[in-house]
Amino acid sequence: MGEPADRIVDVSVADGVARLTMRSGSVNALGRDLRRALAAALDRAAADPDVTAVLLLGQPRAFSAGADITEFKSTEPEVAGAGQPGQADAPDLRALVAQVEDFPKPVIAGITGVALGGGLELAMAAHARIAAPEARLGLPEITLGLIPGAGGTVRLPRLVGPHRALSMILTGKDVTAADALRDGLVDAVAEDPGAPRAVTDAIARVNALPARRTRDREDRIAEAAAAPGTVERLAGAALGKAKDPFAARAAVDAVAAGIEESFDRGLEVEREKFQERLASEESAAQRHLFAAERAARRPAGLDPEAARPVRRAGVVGAGTMGGGIAMALASAGIPVTVVEAERSALDRGLVQVDKNLAVSVSRGSRSEGDAAALRSLITGSLDYGDVADVDLVIEAAYEDLGVKQGIFAALDAVVPPDCILASNTSYLSIDVIAAGTRLRSRVLGLHFFSPANVMPLVEVVRGAATDAAALATGVATARRIGKTPVVVGVCHGFVGNRMLEVRSAQAEQLLLEGALPGQVDRVLKDFGFRMGPFEMGDMAGLDIGWRNRKAEGTTAPVSDALCEAGRFGQKTGAGYYAYDGREGREDPEVERLIVEVSHTQGVTRRDLSDAEILERLLFPMINEGARILAEGIAERAGDIDVIWVKGYNWPAYRGGPLWYAGHVGHGYVAERLRHYAEQTGDATLLPAGFLAGA
Ligand code: 3HC
Repeated sequence: MGEPADRIVDVSVADGVARLTMRSGSVNALGRDLRRALAAALDRAAADPDVTAVLLLGQPRAFSAGADITEFKSTEPEVAGAGQPGQADAPDLRALVAQVEDFPKPVIAGITGVALGGGLELAMAAHARIAAPEARLGLPEITLGLIPGAGGTVRLPRLVGPHRALSMILTGKDVTAADALRDGLVDAVAEDPGAPRAVTDAIARVNALPARRTRDREDRIAEAAAAPGTVERLAGAALGKAKDPFAARAAVDAVAAGIEESFDRGLEVEREKFQERLASEESAAQRHLFAAERAARRPAGLDPEAARPVRRAGVVGAGTMGGGIAMALASAGIPVTVVEAERSALDRGLVQVDKNLAVSVSRGSRSEGDAAALRSLITGSLDYGDVADVDLVIEAAYEDLGVKQGIFAALDAVVPPDCILASNTSYLSIDVIAAGTRLRSRVLGLHFFSPANVMPLVEVVRGAATDAAALATGVATARRIGKTPVVVGVCHGFVGNRMLEVRSAQAEQLLLEGALPGQVDRVLKDFGFRMGPFEMGDMAGLDIGWRNRKAEGTTAPVSDALCEAGRFGQKTGAGYYAYDGREGREDPEVERLIVEVSHTQGVTRRDLSDAEILERLLFPMINEGARILAEGIAERAGDIDVIWVKGYNWPAYRGGPLWYAGHVGHGYVAERLRHYAEQTGDATLLPAGFLAGA
């Protein structure tokens, strides 16, 4: 049964050191075969009189990416590999971790690539850790709606202290080898963590320790242990910001128990909470997203081999989007030329890039050296001729079809035939933009989200003529700059904005019928969004939509009335809310105005329940998602979920709109849509696509 043990854990003994090298799959996920093979190799090393120490190694890409996620099934938690009796002859992960910690001879972990989740928990149980300079270490369980389940909540604080431990556990973010060394998570950084010299030094350090086991190290937690409540206080702000509040709460409880009570009590609480989270719907939702994000990287017809190397890039437009995209490209080491029509606009854009970099330096998210290196890769220009030798140009100019067509025609004339041309349009047709070019096949959409240097999503828009090279280059570049690409088809607003428009229209309608902005925003925030639609509108500015509506001859009565009163949002100090700086407060003037608009429209206002508001915001956009799927604009329901979580702050623990629809029941969503269609007389609310038959 399973892979032969000697193939997944290679064992060699030299100079008294047994080297156990894990090579299971691409990332050494700690599935049952690997756990069984490691346990057996450790047993043999314990019994072998020639072995005086053990060196645990992984592959260049990964020491280990943690517990095997494919073994997690919320319906059968007994196979989860942590905290349960092992399957057949494979120990569970906790038992394996304990076997390492209690090992009678020094165990050294040599970390290359990533050590994540259970992988780091295994390394933390070793008696010393050596990391390669490019290694990354972290406990990302919270991003799966879980807490570390193999001793991470009790061992990490003993190595790095409660403050750093809470920060790693509650954000799920990994740290560099240099940071790990500074914090005490690793004992040394070495180019080759398996080199005899590094290993001999580590063994000597272990032999000199008063207490070898991590569980016995109390110095870093002594202060917090003596002052109960310290963990809770240290967790404070991070707990509020955590992406999964349920897993965050559970993790803090386990950390506190491990510090304020005892190591063993901490382990007990950890085990209990891990099981609870594993069985939760929030974790199921986030595990769905993990799989969906990876599935989205493999759209139909993508040939990764067709991607062209991007050595240099161009960005057209130095506005907020253009500057952000240039920063994103440069932070991956790609030299970028930013082209603008006017000197003043170019200067403004580059100054903004400088400001953004200064902020990231002052926040400590980037070193001064990194910021300077990044900035040196960005050059400004007023001449399309300066992008004549690039491999990819991303246009991020004003959202106007004529403007964009002009830019594409100009680019088409100067760039070489194998240069890929992308538009960052958020609504316009890639096919129409490409129409004026000689080589339409090289044109695609790369729709970034603002701020582009921060937001992880890129909708990769495949036009009717987009060829394999353009698509593969777009996807590969998005990945290279650390974004999550999702391939979508051409339609007004693509996937994300098309669904957002439906939600916005409903939000406006709710105001007309009787709700106020504060109630609508609160309902969405209670659901888990960071902001409601009206707070978002005020932040983005209401005037652009107003101007567009005037040009199209459409209306949004409340928003139009606000704009007519000069309330454009935060930038004018008033919109749906009144502002002192960025702080908004409800404004009786807005209520008066909304009531007046309802009256003019002949609508009798009524009280709307929070439940109705939530359904009327979410179900119509889910319905639009069903249409998008039926039209083939998105390939899978999971693609739509990834777009909403990564681009629109849909709470990850609710899995994305289509996952959520499945959770509340397609039949229920369809029935409510029929009800609201009848109640409002709006036939577009009638169930569509897969919901029509539900
Ligand atoms: N279990 C099972 N499969 C895993 C895995 C894991 N922990 N981590 C990665 N994989 C798989 C991926 O699904 C992917 O499979 P595919 O090729 O079939 O799509 C393959 O390994 C390669 O992964 P990526 O495509 O994601 O490769 P990247 O290079 O982009 O990223 C990575 C590598 C950084 C390791 C990333 O995969 C990652 O973040 N993995 C998850 C790490 C994680 O969350 N670990 C915690 C697990 S929970 C845990 O340990 C509980 C414990 O506390 C008890």
